[in-house]
Amino acid sequence: MSLFLGIETSCDECSASVVCKTAHGAIEVLSVATFSQIHIHRPYGGVVPEIASRNHLESINPMIDQALQEARIQPSALEAIAVTNRPGLVGALLVGVSAAKAMAYALGKPLIPVHHLEGHAASVFLDQKHEIQLPLLLAIVSGGHTNLYVMRETPDHWPKDFLQRSLIGRSRDDAAGEAFDKTAKILGFPYPGGEWIDKKARGGDPSAIPLPRALPQKNTLDFSFSGLKTAVALQVEKLKKAGTLEQKISDLCASIQEAIVDALLTKIFLGARENGCKSVAIVGGVAANSRLRERLSLEHRAHGITQEPLFPKLAYCTDNAAMIAAAGAFRFSQGHWIRGTELLTLNAVANPNH
Ligand code: KG4
Ligand code: ZN
Repeated sequence: MSLFLGIETSCDECSASVVCKTAHGAIEVLSVATFSQIHIHRPYGGVVPEIASRNHLESINPMIDQALQEARIQPSALEAIAVTNRPGLVGALLVGVSAAKAMAYALGKPLIPVHHLEGHAASVFLDQKHEIQLPLLLAIVSGGHTNLYVMRETPDHWPKDFLQRSLIGRSRDDAAGEAFDKTAKILGFPYPGGEWIDKKARGGDPSAIPLPRALPQKNTLDFSFSGLKTAVALQVEKLKKAGTLEQKISDLCASIQEAIVDALLTKIFLGARENGCKSVAIVGGVAANSRLRERLSLEHRAHGITQEPLFPKLAYCTDNAAMIAAAGAFRFSQGHWIRGTELLTLNAVANPNH
């Protein structure tokens, strides 16, 4: 059994967590301490990078202390420290990276640099042990990414360039979470709007309002969500003129959600079929969406996916340090860590392709 501290500050969540990797390879979460800055950025309708870094600076040490205290462990008991060092807002990443470097150096512990998206991929293994059937179709669907991957190895055996090597489809413009957030903004919901659309869609008719599905053709696994916001803006104008916007808000939310979920499922099923995947995992903030979970659970078998779809627990869909600690634990077993003076050279990288 080994204990790992994870640190995540790539965007607007300042999070620290202790996880335990058991002798059987399961990941148990012992603590997660997160300071969410959502309420701070809400008045601006999105994340303001400079404000994010300043708030990370104030909350990083208290979050680390809280995570260690809740897990009831001394820092000396840690096997290693994992930190998101890429991609993200560079000023925000730097706060977590600096804290992790200082701590690892002072304690003489190994430091594991983690790619944020590998963290999301690892979130499906937090507090749940799956007998996954490979290859697995992995969809990372968040506020910043809509990427499809074919996972051919268990996380302990991910190749070093796992993300580049296994990518089979991505959004050409807005991410799915961004499509939720931008259309929610048009409707006047607070940021981030995904969960508002999810809530308001309940009881609405998903076929009430016609909205476009981009790139429906079978020769691409890419997505495009940028046309949706224009279409929604036009529908909102129409409903306002007719004086029926209030009355139709549930139908409109259900229709927006259906357009996004349809686009996601079409490519997920196509990608799974083309790559012989018998299992599928959806991770990232949008994996919390109730309609996506419901439809995937109902429809996967018809598309040759024999295993029940895998989702992270709801608390681990959006950004959190437990997933970073887990990805770090997987990478640690492959020797992807640095220590001593070498770790002082670690940098934060904004670009997702590094
Ligand atoms: O993974 P995440 O926390 O941040 C990134 O790394 O981007 O994802 C945040 C995204 C936001 O766009 C938010 O609106 C969306 O996840 N989201 C949802 C739901 N909960 C969060 N979208 C649809 N339905 C939800 N229930
Ligand atoms: Zn994320």
